[in-house]
Amino acid sequence: MSEFVSVADAASFAPGHGRTVRAEGREIAVYNLDGQFYALDDQCPHRGGPLGAGTLEDGRVFCPLHGWSFDLKTGACLNVPERSVKTHRTRVRDGQVQICLGGDDSGAGRPASE
Ligand code: FES
Repeated sequence: MSEFVSVADAASFAPGHGRTVRAEGREIAVYNLDGQFYALDDQCPHRGGPLGAGTLEDGRVFCPLHGWSFDLKTGACLNVPERSVKTHRTRVRDGQVQICLGGDDSGAGRPASE
């Protein structure tokens, strides 16, 4: 059974922006795309750049170090397809962005439906 953990106040994310948060000892990049929240592992698979400090453009996160880009919803790397990052389900409860890190991450990268 996977569990959601609160990571940040949803109102602290301006649309089109994100940042790195900590959840269960891990660093996770969280972005607000048109009011929906998405989460992916923070560490860029190129050389470890912090994806939460990147920029969001047309649904893609650009790493701040060398510019590799990742599909925010799927984690797919658009530069080197085999270097994708893991995504995580999100939801908002009581004004808090929550992330589910446990269990199978397949189907992640999209907000929880509830
Ligand atoms: S560390 Fe992310 S593109 Fe190089």
